[in-house]
Amino acid sequence: MLVAVAVRDADTGAAARALEALGAPVGSRQALSPGRSLLLAAPGPAPAEPVVAALRAAGWRAVARPVGGGHLAAWRAHTAPVVIEGRLCVCFPWAEFDRASAPPAVEVDPGPSFGTGAHPSTRLLLVEIARRARPGQRVLDVGCGSGVLSLAAARLGAGAVGTDIDPAALVATAANAEWNGLEVDVCDGLPPGRFEIVVANIGADQLVALAPAIRERVAAAGWIGLSGISPAQVSRVAAAFGGGGEVRRDEEWAALVLPG
Ligand SMILES: C[S@@+](CC[C@H](N)C(=O)[O-])C[C@H]1O[C@@H](n2cnc3c(N)ncnc32)[C@H](O)[C@@H]1O
Repeated sequence: MLVAVAVRDADTGAAARALEALGAPVGSRQALSPGRSLLLAAPGPAPAEPVVAALRAAGWRAVARPVGGGHLAAWRAHTAPVVIEGRLCVCFPWAEFDRASAPPAVEVDPGPSFGTGAHPSTRLLLVEIARRARPGQRVLDVGCGSGVLSLAAARLGAGAVGTDIDPAALVATAANAEWNGLEVDVCDGLPPGRFEIVVANIGADQLVALAPAIRERVAAAGWIGLSGISPAQVSRVAAAFGGGGEVRRDEEWAALVLPG
């Protein structure tokens, strides 16, 4: 395996020195997008994973990446961008594809948090955001994880606030917003105020428990997107929110879209 590090071009020298110090000198560099590159380094006979772990602990967006052949083809398939409604795409920072010929990208390094954009429960809400979010709207992302939903809304011009019970998720969301050059606020606990859009991919039990708090935060002309539920759980979640709404399905997952 090689070590792959997605960097801002301005950080190339520092990343190269970090790789060198870990015994993995940079072997090649490829442009990812204007101002961003992927450095590929071979750690010699040593495994790539400890180098990746050391780099990630130091804040670099590093992963182990196959050298070539079928493993590399599989890796590229696994890291291919998730295109949402032709309006945006979600990808890893180290994804190797031509961003200029894809819809505007949101690049997500999930770290230990949930949310690459590929999971059906995330996709269901990404689709709703891509269809409905408008510039200037306020979006509350309850259970933001990696920040993927907030970032998607912000990429479409909305103002997003992410909140999560896991402090690592708030760190991941802030770091991903910074990498993407997007403004996303993170908040420890549900913020006050009303939002045109409230999305929550947190599972049926958490949705039922938070139903009054979520309802309270959606503006009258807004909408709520609830996900992380099975089709069998939809009616229980809908009842907690006062009934009604439209059900969406993706594979074995369901989402509920309700008016504010
Ligand atoms: C399935 S992940 C969703 C991540 C991302 N929003 C997505 O759609 O891919 C659920 C997230 O909700 C968080 N969470 C669970 N219960 C919560 C609660 N009561 N309030 C806020 N966040 C919660 C978890 O820590 C986790 O990060």
